[in-house]
Amino acid sequence: MSSETSENIESVLKETRLFPPSAEFSELANISSEEQYLELWNKAKDQPAEFWGEMAENLHWFKKFDTVLEGDMPNTKWFSGGKINACYNCVDRHLLTWRKNKAAIIWEGEPGDTRVLTYQDLHREVCKFANVLKKLGVTTGDRVTLYMPMIPELAIAMLACARIGATHSIIFGGFSADAVADRNNDAEAKVVITADAGWRRGKEVPLKSAVDDSLEKSPTVEKVVVVRRTGADVTMVDDRDYWWHELMEDVSADCEAVELESEHPLFILYTSGSTGKPKGVLHTTAGYILGTQMTSRWVFDLKEEDTYWCTADIGWVTGHSYIVYGPLANGATTLMYEGAPNWPDEGRFWEIIEKYQVNIFYTAPTAIRAFIKWGDEYPKKHDLSSLRLLGSVGEPINSDAWMWYHKVIGNENCPIVDTWWQTETGSIMMSPLPGVTATKPGSCTKPLPGVVPDIVSEEGNSLDDNQGGLLVMTQPWPSMLRTLYGDHDRFIETYFSKIEGCYFAGDGARRDEDGYYWIMGRVDDVINVSGHRLSTMEVESTLASHEAVAEAAVVGYPHELKGEAICCFVTLKKGDGSDELKQELKNHVRHQIGAIASPDQIRFAAALPKTRSGKIMRRLLRDIAAGKEQVGDTTTLEDYTVVANLKDSEG
Ligand code: PRX
Repeated sequence: MSSETSENIESVLKETRLFPPSAEFSELANISSEEQYLELWNKAKDQPAEFWGEMAENLHWFKKFDTVLEGDMPNTKWFSGGKINACYNCVDRHLLTWRKNKAAIIWEGEPGDTRVLTYQDLHREVCKFANVLKKLGVTTGDRVTLYMPMIPELAIAMLACARIGATHSIIFGGFSADAVADRNNDAEAKVVITADAGWRRGKEVPLKSAVDDSLEKSPTVEKVVVVRRTGADVTMVDDRDYWWHELMEDVSADCEAVELESEHPLFILYTSGSTGKPKGVLHTTAGYILGTQMTSRWVFDLKEEDTYWCTADIGWVTGHSYIVYGPLANGATTLMYEGAPNWPDEGRFWEIIEKYQVNIFYTAPTAIRAFIKWGDEYPKKHDLSSLRLLGSVGEPINSDAWMWYHKVIGNENCPIVDTWWQTETGSIMMSPLPGVTATKPGSCTKPLPGVVPDIVSEEGNSLDDNQGGLLVMTQPWPSMLRTLYGDHDRFIETYFSKIEGCYFAGDGARRDEDGYYWIMGRVDDVINVSGHRLSTMEVESTLASHEAVAEAAVVGYPHELKGEAICCFVTLKKGDGSDELKQELKNHVRHQIGAIASPDQIRFAAALPKTRSGKIMRRLLRDIAAGKEQVGDTTTLEDYTVVANLKDSEG
């Protein structure tokens, strides 16, 4: 465990403040008492099949399932025999109710343009686009890549794929053409949906041109659909590239939702692991939609009249589960914003909250730290009194950020739900229940019903309270990943081989004497930069692919705004390196992976510190990157002078 992590533990160990929900909030909450929570939690633990079978009655089934759960981790099958469609659950069934004309998506573009899609509107657009996909030759079981800005067409395309049983693979717009090509190839995508460009901080982020570059290396892709968003110049290739608006002109708005098996693959989402190659996390239909639906209701306490806003990008799992699938499965109104929080100024988010009278606001600690830095004057200029619930996700929230969120944004009146989960878990695993749980700043508090965690040693033994260890799940849950696309062995090896019989999440944690969980960060080679998950190995192998580089070691170090930043120690094939080469290496990483992986520091070194067995001493490098005195036993260092030189090399 890194020393940053131990420091984090130190600070959270001192946290004793407790914030119970107000009586008014509890009274109206979807889960309103500790007894109710315990009843649900115990039932889910002791009789999971009965519990999840009952919960699944909240979904629409074309045909009811025969069994709830077959098998055990790692190979589970949920709701066998059932026939279901995620799109039908998110859209069609609301049309049979008064929600037909309710706003499903309220969208605001960065330049200030807006669109509201009622459930009826959404249904029409989704059906039409599903027919477009069919016309392009997409059938049930095919994979479709979505590389798009945060515009309504992204949600429409996702739901259209789900409607016909095509598996979507969404790639965050900040990834490079090479990253798109890798993912297209791994998924063997048939069609790519993109836009000319998107808006970010007043500038156009080109997407179509990156798709063009990626297609030189993606032989499986046959067709490209392009949304005209900014009007940027793009090249359209005959018989391959089509404009969204032209295709939508002559298709019908009738398209039956396909009746799919419960375990039909809904989407693949690539995420970083501890090796260089991104992993295609596969989620399936019934379990995922059930998990996101129930957790949205429990954690965000969704009510019919709420305007709910999650600020994530749909390119990450938070956007999949809590902008699109979870809220829409509940018939809620979900707000979607295209651009940056500081455009045209640092008050944009607060302006949006006031304008749409947002009630529930879900964002990331890295954003909260930026808001603090920008100053209280921005939120203070706006009326935020519509807010009743605040959420946090993506990384541990430090208690200063928590308190600021509580006071300045929540006016000391809104419960904060600090939600712990992962791309792999599909939906929120641990979180306060806003009407029940007294919160402690920095703790994600307790497991939700159906989640049975434990803290264990490296050997798999359960640890006592307040002992830091590995966070594992001892029982399966419906929205868990089913495999890594095309690599089931890697799925078993990555998540189920470390601790016998358990899902190992990759995080360290401890549980306190009140049963509250405190996440201590990753214990593998994954780092969390501004809430974005990155593999240090992926950055290392990218650096090593540069002709000047002999060897590279990449570590994270604490950063005031980003949570963690990226430091690369590089040895060169020849010469001592220069500022130009540093810049070139940074550009190389941006080009190969994307802007999100851009190194904060490159340090040239004569050699990397290694143990006698040749392993790079990462702990030591982390301390050096963090500017700390070197601690611990370094007597196994191959060459002591290496350390001295590394400390001297500037950032
Ligand atoms: O380390 C944990 C951290 O983010 C990782 C998962 O990243 P990703 O799959 O990209 O999903 C992010 C959004 C769900 C976890 O292994 N993490 C996520 N939420 C929290 C967190 N760490 C502490 N507290 C959280 N609330």
